[in-house]
Amino acid sequence: MVAKIINGLEVSAAVKTRVKKAAQELKDSGVQPCLATVLVGDDPASATYVNSKQKTAGDLGIATRDHRLDSTFKQHELVELVHLLNNDSEVHGILVQLPLPSHINEFAIVNSINPIKDVDGLTPYNAGMLQNGMAILKPCTPSGVIELLDYYKIDVSGMDAVIVNRSNLVGLPLALMLIEKNATVTICHSKTRDLQTKLKNADLVITAVGNRQRFTLAADMVKDDSVVIDVGTSRQNGKLTGDVDFESVRQKAAWITPVPGGVGPMTIAMLMKNTVSAASISKGMNE
Ligand SMILES: NC(=O)c1ccc[n+]([C@@H]2O[C@H](COP(=O)([O-])OP(=O)(O)OC[C@H]3O[C@@H](n4cnc5c(N)ncnc54)[C@H](OP(=O)(O)O)[C@@H]3O)[C@@H](O)[C@H]2O)c1
Repeated sequence: MVAKIINGLEVSAAVKTRVKKAAQELKDSGVQPCLATVLVGDDPASATYVNSKQKTAGDLGIATRDHRLDSTFKQHELVELVHLLNNDSEVHGILVQLPLPSHINEFAIVNSINPIKDVDGLTPYNAGMLQNGMAILKPCTPSGVIELLDYYKIDVSGMDAVIVNRSNLVGLPLALMLIEKNATVTICHSKTRDLQTKLKNADLVITAVGNRQRFTLAADMVKDDSVVIDVGTSRQNGKLTGDVDFESVRQKAAWITPVPGGVGPMTIAMLMKNTVSAASISKGMNE
């Protein structure tokens, strides 16, 4: 069987249409949704991500603030900037682009963001809310994966899911979201023993390694008719690629995401969705 393509461009467009409408409704009610981005240093990939977040926000009627700081910016200065944004009633979402330069403690910065403006869903408060099934602002990439599954009506209830990633950004929140949808989840990582057997038995495989030399998901590693979601991104000969050997795996799986055009566009769309949700929360608080 040849897998059906999970089209992240199509699904993200649908999400953005809804977000644009919600942003207009908020504006009509006197609240201009606003996202502040903070970029420290001159990493080109991070700059590209921030540029496209800024542009997408503009396209959807979300106002932006754009803070670009020198790589020598100190941790306490960054905390002060986050506090200023926390206290700015016109700013509804704060996104500090990760990774930060090594002299800055990422946890300290993320932890300084007011949870109601935490549009990346990464603060300990929002992580705890997710664990309790109460989160409004959820991490963007995992919620983008869930949005893809929902859009194509892929019911994960009862599925054996394997996630190859254990980060706070991807693997851990995604595991919680899949468990909430009644999947049985195994989280794997670089020290996992017998990964091949776990993958081969999985109905749903989600990979987010981002290094093809270390890990490539090939056709002989997946079960017939499985669902394969590729979150990983890396460059091969200058070309953007995922963790999955797409051409071979698509001959075996039932559903598959391409890279590019799969999970990537969803991450930004869900960030915009979170920004509008944060603006709605602030509106509720002001009434
Ligand atoms: N498309 C998007 O929108 C989007 C969004 C976010 C992230 N990403 C991509 O997703 C990838 C992961 O991001 P991240 O921030 O979560 O990075 P990360 O923290 O470096 O996570 C990589 C994970 O892969 C595991 N791993 C590494 N080598 C492995 C191997 N040989 N076998 C099994 N597992 C292995 C690591 O295990 P250990 O924990 O043991 O080191 C870790 O859990 C990156 O490529 C990133 O660019 C894409």
